[in-house]
Amino acid sequence: MTDHSHIDDLDPAVFAQRVPPGFVFGTATSAFQVEGAVREGGRGPSTWDTFMAQPGRISDGSTAAIADDHYHRYREDVALMKELGLDAYRFSLSWPRIQHGGKGGANREGVAFYDRLLDELLAAGIRPMVTLYHWDTPEELQQTGGWMNRDTAKRLGDFAALAAEAFGDRVDQWVTINEPTTVTLNGYALGIHAPGHGMLFNALPAAHHQLLGHGYAVQALRAVGVPGGIGMTNVHSPVVSARDRMTDRFFANVFDTVHNRIFADPVLLGQYPKPPFGSGRLFRALSEVDDEDLKVIHQPLDFYGLNYYMPTRIRAGSPKTGETPDGEAEVMKEVPFSLEPFPEFAKTGFGWPVAPEYLAVTLGDMVERYGDALPPVYITEGGVSYPDARGATGAFHDDRRIDYLAEHLAIVLNGAPGIDLRGYFVWSLLDNWEWAAGFSQRFGLVHVDFDTLERTPKDSYRWLQAVLAAR
Ligand code: BGC
Repeated sequence: MTDHSHIDDLDPAVFAQRVPPGFVFGTATSAFQVEGAVREGGRGPSTWDTFMAQPGRISDGSTAAIADDHYHRYREDVALMKELGLDAYRFSLSWPRIQHGGKGGANREGVAFYDRLLDELLAAGIRPMVTLYHWDTPEELQQTGGWMNRDTAKRLGDFAALAAEAFGDRVDQWVTINEPTTVTLNGYALGIHAPGHGMLFNALPAAHHQLLGHGYAVQALRAVGVPGGIGMTNVHSPVVSARDRMTDRFFANVFDTVHNRIFADPVLLGQYPKPPFGSGRLFRALSEVDDEDLKVIHQPLDFYGLNYYMPTRIRAGSPKTGETPDGEAEVMKEVPFSLEPFPEFAKTGFGWPVAPEYLAVTLGDMVERYGDALPPVYITEGGVSYPDARGATGAFHDDRRIDYLAEHLAIVLNGAPGIDLRGYFVWSLLDNWEWAAGFSQRFGLVHVDFDTLERTPKDSYRWLQAVLAAR
């Protein structure tokens, strides 16, 4: 196991000396994972409402109907952020809460909730970073194909215009879409997330349409003239081949293309990557797209949001189990390569490798691949789940999360030549509803008792608070 003790001094005052002036510290959440109140305030149904109600979809059988009840407790949550000393807070708008069925005018009650939240944040001196789309597609749009339907991209553009009109005066930064990779792979290719399709490579139009939606959303935000910065968020996972063999390297390349490059290249370079030699058939859906679409996708951005959780190791040959980092997918067994473990690293509660060195690899790849085309970068998510338990005195001693954050932050704070790193958003402020894993994975700096909804800051919260205070 790799020894991560290279952060020799976790003393917050010492650690704070690493933080350059102006570097932004935030936390991130998403609407569906924290809000609850799924039938209140005139909210319409979302594809995740449908998915979580299907038997066997969520590992602990839970739903996000109440989640953290943030819809009612947002004041308490903003107070926690203020006490933590955050500069910024990244959250997402629930599309079906604001625009029923993803069409037409705004639902006043939905808008009013985000008005209250934005005002509360600004009063606390916290800059809002707003994600337009973090996976909760209005169910009506799902019924007409969701992201397999090109029209959904247009709908996201219209939603962006509506959000810009309603909130543009108060939003500091906009993220159009969050992790189209995860929606495409988990939602449409493997069926672990909503809408639960197992289309494998036939899911690629869902990727293209989300990217197109990103482009339309940027155009809409710019047309309204919002003063806030505009960007998008992709999750990056550096890919290595399991063995020094051509077949492993080939599939590692295929995976890198489908996980990283097809989402970042068109946004930053205006073109889809060339598929690895011999894999053209798999990527045909993307090689046939119109140049006009690529122009829409390739908008100038004020920043690029990068989420990093873990690297991926690929070995040629179909896997024996359907195991993936986010849950079991039967259809995974049909894929001609498998995702291999990283026994050299410690594991998170999810079983994911703790590999800060691969965050450095990702940053290096970004510079190599995108160079001057890369706008300033924010790490819009990074964090870890552990089964945090209350200690004898009632506190949550999540030392492993402190180590994790210190190690990953140190990489970002050290900087990487050729990349303008502006901030880091911890996933997540609160323990919340972790999609297909339900309440079984706790990512929060703040513990949430899912029965009483009581919030208790963990030791990691106290550590970060002391670092931020000592800047
Ligand atoms: C997503 C979050 C999720 C986190 C941990 C990211 O992929 O944006 O919604 O909770 O990872 O799995």
